[in-house]
Amino acid sequence: IKCIGVLTSGGDAPGMNAAIRAVVRKALAAGRQVKGIHRGYAGLLNEEIVEMNAHSVSDIIGKGGTILQTARCLEFAQEEYQKKAADICKKHGIDGLVVIGGDGSFKGAQKLAAHGINTIGLPGTIDLDISCTEYTIGFDTAVNTAMEAIDKVRDTSTSHERCSIIEVMGRGAGYIALWCGIANGAEDVLLPEIYNYDEQSIVDHIIADRRRGKQHHIIVNAEGIGHSMSMAKRIEAATGIETRATILGHMQRGGSPTAKDRVYASTMGAMAVDLLCEGRTNRVVGYNHGEFQDFDIDEALAMNKDLDKYQVEICRVLSN
Ligand code: F6P
Repeated sequence: IKCIGVLTSGGDAPGMNAAIRAVVRKALAAGRQVKGIHRGYAGLLNEEIVEMNAHSVSDIIGKGGTILQTARCLEFAQEEYQKKAADICKKHGIDGLVVIGGDGSFKGAQKLAAHGINTIGLPGTIDLDISCTEYTIGFDTAVNTAMEAIDKVRDTSTSHERCSIIEVMGRGAGYIALWCGIANGAEDVLLPEIYNYDEQSIVDHIIADRRRGKQHHIIVNAEGIGHSMSMAKRIEAATGIETRATILGHMQRGGSPTAKDRVYASTMGAMAVDLLCEGRTNRVVGYNHGEFQDFDIDEALAMNKDLDKYQVEICRVLSN
């Protein structure tokens, strides 16, 4: 491998900059050239490619977002564009590529590998919804951001003796909701993976808690269930207790990464370069049981993942 390209793809996540920095500096230390590709696969197709040096990544480890920008590129699902992108990589001398993103981004990396570009995927998403890994770049920061926001909503909810529904991101996955449910001691947590939606049981729970003297009722609702505004109206009507909904939204994707996200993203970025220098391709880096590992992308994409059942159970038990 002579020249390593790096891009970020899909939704941004805090810690992506730390990963980019690690790719650039580790590659330079290994005597490789590095090129940054702006705006993900869309930018690759537009040849938005710049040479990077050690200075290009100065002062970014503590910054949220991604200095390379990111995009969701739907046309990249088509063979014609995958081939074109591989040809562009070859034209720019890029023979190894690090793709930082989620499952959809790994599919793109898999296709580029099939067209002769050595590719390594790094799991970058706040959603934690990548099957081959217990850790994704950005989840830790996003959960901490959401946790702090929910603490604040809880203060005002208690003062006004209200019920509050707080909707957190995660697309179809409930990891952020589950972690906030435990970290914030929420009275109810609605998870798309396991929740049989029964609003009456929530209403009964709120009324029972109020009779026991609870001054607030925090419901953490996962984006995958959604409809928080209409849910609040129905719950208020059924309980007679003032109910407000707060959708945290994109604030969960921003902000300075936590130490964990900086350190793990740096490790993964460096590991991606090591793998490329060893001549490996079509791999994705993950972290499981205290170890950084790499998997074949085809195998990684075929894996399934579910919420930790014990965590789901303690979330329920501890909130009572
Ligand atoms: O995948 C990260 C994520 O923030 C999801 O939690 C959310 O569903 C989605 O991206 C939102 O995407 P966009 O920023 O394109 O609206």
